[in-house]
Amino acid sequence: MPPMIDEILKLKEEATVAAGRLNSADEAETFRLKYLSRKGLVAQLFERLKDVPKEEKPQLGKSLNELRKSLETEFESAKSRIEGQSKVREEVPDLSLPGRKRYVGKMHPLTQTAAEIKRIFTGIGFGIADGPEIEDDYHNFEALNFPPDHPARDMQDTFFVSDDSGKFVLRTHTSGVQIRVMENNKPPIRVIMPGRCYRNEAISARAYCMFHQVEGLYVDKNVSLAELKGTISYFAKELFGSEVKTRFRPSFFPFTEPSAEVDIGCIFCGGKGCRLCKYAGWLEIMGCGMVDPNVFKFVRYDPAEVSGFAFGMGIERIAMLKYSIDDIRLFFENDIRFLNQF
Ligand code: PHE
Repeated sequence: MPPMIDEILKLKEEATVAAGRLNSADEAETFRLKYLSRKGLVAQLFERLKDVPKEEKPQLGKSLNELRKSLETEFESAKSRIEGQSKVREEVPDLSLPGRKRYVGKMHPLTQTAAEIKRIFTGIGFGIADGPEIEDDYHNFEALNFPPDHPARDMQDTFFVSDDSGKFVLRTHTSGVQIRVMENNKPPIRVIMPGRCYRNEAISARAYCMFHQVEGLYVDKNVSLAELKGTISYFAKELFGSEVKTRFRPSFFPFTEPSAEVDIGCIFCGGKGCRLCKYAGWLEIMGCGMVDPNVFKFVRYDPAEVSGFAFGMGIERIAMLKYSIDDIRLFFENDIRFLNQF
């Protein structure tokens, strides 16, 4: 048997190397059991001390104590190294994992279209106003010069609010906001009025019971039809491109005189005629006209003093043209596969 001191030194070397390689709590425990437990290798050497010649005892005892201390220190430092590692492992992201996809929200195409319309008109000095969706008969019809028996007042078109008074409707257009703005302001007036409207229509690819309009109103001294045409042509060019043509077709609204329907040259075929413009070469985008003097009387403006123009367009219709959408119902189904495309 080699001298005990050699065994002590050999064990120390071997155990120190082993401690440096410990990599997990399990391995550390195996190390402790092997070297430092009550029946471990160090304890076994202590056991043999009693058989050692008396004169060698002090020296070997001292060496054994040093061995135990040294291995305990190695063991403790290996343990704290392992704990530190597992903490780092928890905190550092695993860079080999596939990336997580982030879904960015988008504005609804109608919101985007309304924002674009607002941008164009606010850019030339128009402000923005709004009014109630539940409107009274006076603002939705009467003050807009609708005669009592006008067909637009019919149950066929209008949703009435059942409160027994028979006075309230879901507004059928945003034109009532014109009245509200003029009641509360003196000319000059330059506003657009975006909002939701309702009509009792059979639902189809082209019509829905709920939709959105943007109304416009300009009142001042000496406002002319030429200014109406200039403003609308400018708007159409901003929205559909500088090459787009506009055309004003005589029409009728109770609250404007003269009235017109505005067409743009078909943006799909350039006016040659195609399926989308029904081979007319033109697409209708809004109604407009000079404010009827009777409307001014309702809001106590003097028609001899001021004049003005008004216009109204459907946001759905504009969005359908802009994005080539062929069914209005798509806007309200909230199918993410549709909405994601804008
Ligand atoms: N209110 C009309 C409609 O809903 C549009 C319009 C607004 C026409 C303003 C002329 C002036 O069809």
